[in-house]
Order: sequence, then structure tokens, then C-alpha cells
Amino acid sequence: MYQALYRSFRPETFDALLGQEHIVRILKNQIKNGTNAHAYMFCGTRGTGKTTTARLLAKGLNCTSEGERPCGKCEACRAIAAGSFLDVTEIDAASNNGVDDVRMLREEVNFPPVLGRTKVYIIDEAHMLSTAACNALLKTLEEPPKDTVFILATTDPGKLPATIHSRCIRLDFRRVSEKVMAERFAEIVRETGNSADPDALSLIAANADGSVRDGLSLLDRCLAAGEHISRDDVLFLLGMAGVETHMKITDCVLKKDLAGALKVFAQVLAEGKETVQFTKDWMEHLRNLLMVKVLDDPAGILNLSAENIERLRAQSAAADTEFLRGCITLLSRALSESRYAPKPRTLIELAIIRMCR
Ligand SMILES: Nc1ncnc2c1ncn2[C@@H]1O[C@H](COP(=O)(O)OP(=O)(O)OP(=O)(O)O)[C@@H](O)[C@H]1O
Ligand SMILES: [Mg+2]
Ligand SMILES: [Zn+2]
Repeated sequence: MYQALYRSFRPETFDALLGQEHIVRILKNQIKNGTNAHAYMFCGTRGTGKTTTARLLAKGLNCTSEGERPCGKCEACRAIAAGSFLDVTEIDAASNNGVDDVRMLREEVNFPPVLGRTKVYIIDEAHMLSTAACNALLKTLEEPPKDTVFILATTDPGKLPATIHSRCIRLDFRRVSEKVMAERFAEIVRETGNSADPDALSLIAANADGSVRDGLSLLDRCLAAGEHISRDDVLFLLGMAGVETHMKITDCVLKKDLAGALKVFAQVLAEGKETVQFTKDWMEHLRNLLMVKVLDDPAGILNLSAENIERLRAQSAAADTEFLRGCITLLSRALSESRYAPKPRTLIELAIIRMCR
């Protein structure tokens, strides 16, 4: 059976992990010196390596190699990668039994490791823990058992109570840069016996917006279509859903190119995209442009890669704050009116006409 790239290319050692050097440095050191904490909180956007790193840390704390740990080769490392190591438990807080698992954990933690040196509990999607589960976990974190490490992974640390935060070492995962991702994708394409144009891989990386998993999934879809990937292949696969479309239609509106804007809109609909969804996405793009324009440091507010923020900045240079505000208002009004309209498309077209006036 074919295994998705993002699963077959999960890093087995720290050196294979992309873009998280600040975290790798800390964890490598702690593993080497035995100075690891009892509880960690891994935060950051989806697909940036939180679960992967949690497993790497679990391996590092149980690896039997004399050299660099984790080695990825010893019995412990391999068993952890396969999910069959008794002392490493993964709990998915998003699933129903997350709560039961946390309760069970409270009793179980008092026993020493069976096979390895350290028991590791990886609590994935920790922000999904119920209040009851959170409280149960808190009790355990308050009296951390010997030789036990907890790793909470979450995309949404704000949802976890301060009491949990204060007991964990927090590590923030960064979005991976396009350059680093595109370079790795080139290696993967080669290793799998395929080929790709460099600009095709850059486009995939740009659309991944910092998430390696999203990038690998897109790469996978491209490879399913053929052994060689060109930029046009990627554009075709992305369809009009890619960020390029929002850039393009906004460019038209900024230039008051009415025919151009209406054409992009028509293409979007011809590709089967829904009027309302497209309009919402486009509004989000305009809102991002506005943020980039009015904020000195928009990175904290905008959930986007540094490169995509740079692209927004370039486009926003040609845009006037008032004009952007006007466009957002026009679209938002058209959207709310379109709820009762037989043809939402017409209302959005009217809004585009007014923007271009
Ligand atoms: N920093 C990275 N370096 C290399 N590969 C990565 C990295 N981050 C993610 N990947 C790839 O994406 C896959 C999924 O990564 P992982 O499960 O660690 O992400 P995550 O941060 O836990 O995401 P989520 O928040 O959705 O759970 C990995 O198997 C790997 O192929
Ligand atoms: Mg994860
Ligand atoms: Zn090992």
C-alpha cells in the first residue's frame, strides 16, 4: 500500500528536523546532560513538527546508543517510531477516550519504566482536553513522578489554563521557511525517483505557508499526477484556490481593471469554487493587506509565514488604507445581502464594479 510522503518522511533524528534549530539545540543538550524537564508544552502551527519532536525526545530519553541520541537505529528508537514501546504512551486529547486516558495515567505514572530509562506521555492536541481531564493532569504535574516526562503538543496554547502553563517548559515551533522546505522537497523528489522544476517546488513551499505537512501533501498530489512536476502542474492542481488568485483579483481591483477582476472571478466560479467561500477568503486576504499596512510588526497578528507576509507587504504598498477598508466593507455588505439573494454571484459582481470605480 502506498504511504503518504508526510508519513514515510517523518524525521527519525533531530538532524532531519527542518527549521526548529532553536528547539533542537535545547533538547539535544538536555538529553545529553540528563537535565530534561518533567513537562513540556510544544506550541505552534499545524504540521511544523510538534508530534515528531515529541517522539524524538521520547526516543532520546530512552535511546541506548553511545553516540548522538536519538540514533534512530537502536531497538528503543525503532520501537518508539513504530508505536510499540511500552514506556512511551501517546494520548490523543481530541479523541473521546482522551479523558479516560488521562485518568488512567494518574494511576499508571507511579510505576517505574518497564524497558527504558524514562516513561514519556505525549498528550497530543492538548487544547482539546476537557476541564476534568485538565484537572486530573494538573494533579499529576504538581507532583511529577520520577523518571517520567510529559509532553503536551498543541496548536492553541491559549486554550490551556495558566496552571498547566506554569508547570511546563514551553517551546514554540516556527513556520518553516520556503527555502528550507523547497530544498528538502528537492531531495525527496530525487530519493523517490522523480524530478521537478525548482520553481514548481518553490510554489509548493509558498502554498504550504510554513507547514511541512501541508507542503508534503501537496507534493504527494503533484507526484500522483506524474513523475515530473512543473510549475504549471502545481498551478493546475491548486486551481483557483491558491493564494495567487486572491493576489491576482486584488491586483486588478487596485489597478481599477474591472474586466480583469470580473474575469478572475468568473474563472474561480467556473472551477467550481463557491461564491460565498471565495468571497470570504478574498476578504481575509484584504484584511491581511490592511493589517500589514497599519501594523509595524504584523507577524504576531497574522497567522502567516514570513515570506507570505512579505508578499502582502509588496502588494499593500500599492494600496491605500481607506480603499482597502472600503473594499472590505463592500464585500462584507454584499455577503450579508447575498444570504437572501437568489444569485449571490451578481451581488459580488456589483461590489467588484463599485471597487473599480
Ligand atoms: N519541522 C519539520 N521537519 C521535517 N518534517 C516535518 C516537520 N514538521 C512536520 N514535518 C512532516 O510533517 C509530518 C507531520 O508532522 P507532525 O505530526 O510532527 O506535525 P505537528 O506539528 O504535530 O502537526 P499537528 O499540529 O497537525 O499535530 C511529519 O511526519 C513530517 O513528514
Ligand atoms: Mg501533531
Ligand atoms: Zn537509539
